[in-house]
Amino acid sequence: MTVFEPRIVALLCNWCAYDGADAAGRARLDIPPQVREVRVMCSGQVDSGMVLSAFEAGAQGVMVLGCQPGDCHYKKGNVHAMKRMALLRAVLKPTRIDPRRLRLDWVSAGDGKRYTRVAREMVDTIEQLGPATQTPGNEHQ
Ligand code: FES
Repeated sequence: MTVFEPRIVALLCNWCAYDGADAAGRARLDIPPQVREVRVMCSGQVDSGMVLSAFEAGAQGVMVLGCQPGDCHYKKGNVHAMKRMALLRAVLKPTRIDPRRLRLDWVSAGDGKRYTRVAREMVDTIEQLGPATQTPGNEHQ
């Protein structure tokens, strides 16, 4: 029997979420090993191409984690991320990529506990959904 080991890409803003992940590591919290962290400057920098590329590369889930609303170091990057990810979820809906495989959330700098909790929740969600069977672009095959 094959055990499902999901791969999850976490796109973390440099100023808050990445620091939260770093704090989790420094505190030796139980970060799920299924999560692969990628640092970006701001959640507002993450576009649909980056998310779809992660899915195409085999990610079973993608998290975009930024600063709490009002704390973005580029003022409105996380507001743009909210709009963009909502649109992207709507685009994913008719495909066989369940929109729950894309999560947008906020982690403050230094908040390792929250980062660990969000990452664990995402792993649980993806484990419940099981393997993604389709990638964007081939949903009609
Ligand atoms: Fe963190 Fe913009 S700098 S969301």
